Amino acid sequence: MNDNQTCEIVVDGKLNESAVLDFPDSLTLMPEGWLSTFEMSILYTLAKQSAGPILEIGSWLGRSTVAIAGGVRDNVQAPIFDTCDFGLTSGVEWREKLQESFMPYTDSAENDVIARSVFQTGGTIALLIDNLRKAGALKYVTSIIRGDVLEIPLRAKYGYIFCDTLHSEREIRAYGAFLNNLLADGGFIVCDDVISEDLGSILREYIHFEFLAYSNPIDQYSKFAVGKKTHK
Ligand SMILES: C[S@@+](CC[C@H](N)C(=O)[O-])C[C@H]1O[C@@H](n2cnc3c(N)ncnc32)[C@H](O)[C@@H]1O
Repeated sequence: MNDNQTCEIVVDGKLNESAVLDFPDSLTLMPEGWLSTFEMSILYTLAKQSAGPILEIGSWLGRSTVAIAGGVRDNVQAPIFDTCDFGLTSGVEWREKLQESFMPYTDSAENDVIARSVFQTGGTIALLIDNLRKAGALKYVTSIIRGDVLEIPLRAKYGYIFCDTLHSEREIRAYGAFLNNLLADGGFIVCDDVISEDLGSILREYIHFEFLAYSNPIDQYSKFAVGKKTHK
């Protein structure tokens, strides 16, 4: 799609591939993470078109943050962009906050990047800030907040939320009502790992959507749900 055009990202209940702008930056400076190129393009496109404020929940080392920050940079409205993460600094914190064992990451060389990121001076938030600086993205992030999104001070409403903490029914139920309160009427929400109606239908119990569409039918490596909350 031409860079200056905007068109509906969801048409007839399905994600509209031709409305998704290519993520324009070199991938060599992208922090490590789990997002596919298509997923970064979705985050970028919505950030470029959103009036904001924008909130990211779960920045980890900043792969998704850089994609959103690129959209903020290329958005004439210069929206506010807040990002938050637990900012883990130890195996104990990992276990307490994520409710899963840290052992696999210390035992396996394959997962070494996770252990190194947690044990690095300042923990994962320090690495996040460093990665954003190296990618030229730091100046497009308004606030980097360390803590539990359910407990930290945030703005009253957001026009676009990327939530990377909804990987199971338990997590959707833990965050669903909170997300509904935070998302403005007519606002967009993108959720990683909500791959189909199996989990999407649970999210619909909390948020009344104009549409909720999935990226997986377009890109087999992609697991996004893209939703727009109805206007009251
Ligand atoms: C899958 S990772 C995010 C990956 C990242 N978005 C990327 O593109 O590489 C999930 C992140 O969510 C954070 N997280 C999980 N629950 C959270 C909560 N309640 N508040 C803040 N951060 C949370 C974790 O610390 C972890 O860094």
